Amino acid sequence: MGLTTTVRRVSKVAVQSTHADTATAPIIPEPSFVSAPGVSRHTALEALRLQHERECPHCTTATAHTNIVFGEGDANAQVFFVGEAPGETEDQTGRPFVGKAGTKLNEMIAAMGLSREQVYIANVLKSRPPNNRPPQPSEIAACGPYLIEQLLLIAPKVIVTLGGPATKLLLGSEIGISKLRGIWATWQPPKGRGASIPIMPTYHPAYLLRNYTPQTRAEVWSDLKQVMAKIQVAPG
Ligand code: URA
Repeated sequence: MGLTTTVRRVSKVAVQSTHADTATAPIIPEPSFVSAPGVSRHTALEALRLQHERECPHCTTATAHTNIVFGEGDANAQVFFVGEAPGETEDQTGRPFVGKAGTKLNEMIAAMGLSREQVYIANVLKSRPPNNRPPQPSEIAACGPYLIEQLLLIAPKVIVTLGGPATKLLLGSEIGISKLRGIWATWQPPKGRGASIPIMPTYHPAYLLRNYTPQTRAEVWSDLKQVMAKIQVAPG
């Protein structure tokens, strides 16, 4: 059976949250295919990766990127980390979080008693924006649906959003990350597409590196400890 026969056509994704003040959740277009029952998560993710490569409007029109950074990790991961967009090193290697911010994220994952191979890591955007500028709404609308499909396929126990753009997309909230971090929220999948998933928003590792104070370090560690308690792992 070919990969294309393992998928079926759908229409829209609503990104919603249970945060009190997030009533205006954005509706973003969904990629044209999702996996069918009976297909392994790994196979379905690979089909989605190929689909993204063929179709993503941002990736095919952006001029600044070298490689697509789809995401990587365990297709059966309990924890799914969501970043913003690839930086220079990620663009060169085609892998998420492998630059300085990636080294910090690796430390955070290890401190949680987990390895990088046990979690899944992806970004809102799957190709590097020109000059690392923040993702634009049109780029998020184009690329975001593939992240939604990754979340639906992996169905982790917990989503950890790293920084503002990822938190904003999944919670549909305009509230700043410093107010949302450390407070459990819920990602509501599109209707009929699975169970809701707890989200723990925390600071982006690049922000942490730029603001490496006892306070920010304690805040991130406190956020990660809440995640560990939820999935019942001991610190590394
Ligand atoms: N920052 C991100 O948000 N994602 C990456 O993959 C690297 C840096």
